[in-house]
Amino acid sequence: MGTARKFAAIEPAAGKLDRSIFSDQTVYDDEMEKIFGRAWLMIGHESLVPGADDFFHTYMGEDPVILTRDGERRLHALLNMCRHRGNRVCRVDDGNAERFMCSYHGWTYRNDGALEYVPGEAEAYYGALDRPSLGLIEARVETYAGIVFATWAKDAPSLEAYLGDARWYLDTVFNRRDGGMQALGPIKWLEPANWKTMVDNCSDNYHVPTSHLASARVQTRYLGRPRLSHEDQFASPNKHAFVNGHGVTFRDADDNMPRYVHGMSSENMRLFQEYHKATMPEVERRLGTFRAHRVQLGNHSIFPNGILGLRLALPRGPLKTEFWHFVLVERDAPEELKHAIRVGSQANNGAAGMFEQDDVDNWRQVTAASTSRLGRRQPQDLSMGLGHAGLHPDYPGLVSQRYISENNQRLFYRRWEEFMNAESWADIPLDSATARFDGTATMRG
Ligand code: FES
Ligand SMILES: [Fe+2]
Repeated sequence: MGTARKFAAIEPAAGKLDRSIFSDQTVYDDEMEKIFGRAWLMIGHESLVPGADDFFHTYMGEDPVILTRDGERRLHALLNMCRHRGNRVCRVDDGNAERFMCSYHGWTYRNDGALEYVPGEAEAYYGALDRPSLGLIEARVETYAGIVFATWAKDAPSLEAYLGDARWYLDTVFNRRDGGMQALGPIKWLEPANWKTMVDNCSDNYHVPTSHLASARVQTRYLGRPRLSHEDQFASPNKHAFVNGHGVTFRDADDNMPRYVHGMSSENMRLFQEYHKATMPEVERRLGTFRAHRVQLGNHSIFPNGILGLRLALPRGPLKTEFWHFVLVERDAPEELKHAIRVGSQANNGAAGMFEQDDVDNWRQVTAASTSRLGRRQPQDLSMGLGHAGLHPDYPGLVSQRYISENNQRLFYRRWEEFMNAESWADIPLDSATARFDGTATMRG
């Protein structure tokens, strides 16, 4: 490593985490540079820009970015900043446009980023403006199963290497059908929480029977969902695994039941079961028998700020996060089923979601604790399951012995440190790929 190790936030052997990383402005400023400036970031979905010249306005960290599809149908991620004085060249959330004209002085860019027209180029600039070098700043773009990622780092590895064996698990939700998925949304809102608090929560099943007690009881009473207890969680054969910066939890699905999603109820369960059965031959062909039948991704995070499916925790200062909540549905699923998932997703996650409100209350308080003069001197305790995780014969990554563990949280903050202490991508380790990807599904879908 080129420089002295600056950040040592987590003590891996004891599981103690320095709380100041949730509130310090200087730490946050470094995160923007070293994490959001160099990681592959989820920025959208191909279905948000289906046609030529479609665009969708998004963010990479705090930087506004236009995701465009040019006339040749190629994707671009363009910094929404005019190269002249810096105005935003796009002021709307989405649309269809071949060009973006800056409303300050009229510099006009093509949707592939090239600066096409400058008022007075011959007269005012005397023909001396180096127009070809003044296109919109462009990030690298790659996709996985329709999900669009971008990075500012020229030296970043491929997205395939970045996701690594995490894709083995992600495929079981995002890459099941030949027709792919479609994104609905997003719902956007602000919370007074540090962005990392919800990322580490994605692998926290420990909180579910406590924090979501009332919400789960409502589901049991009105939707027929089985009761959930701490005992169930501790005895669960489900798994908690960490791969290459990404945290996953998953169900060992040995019962032919579809993956649980919000929107299921005793009334429509038959519909979900029929769909599961009808699509199984296709899923087996795409993912191989073992993954198709036995592996169902649960809560998960994609480093750094992708949370639970296509949801983003966009940093807006150390003490503020802008949530973007999308719903992903399989494009060829029956409309009735898509409708149930869409309604269920918004009823339980999203700004007015029952479960979401339980969660954000926790994240607000975890963040607030890091601002208390006395409280912040006391580290977080992330010691659960220390020494009880390792390699598994059937599942890639570091797999904890129990479903309930803080293994992924410890490793998430280790990954955070690796990025924060690195001079460049050359200093950031990647797990070597070991998983066998049976079936026909690929990075491209
Ligand atoms: S700032 Fe965009 S044209 Fe001047
Ligand atoms: Fe939760």
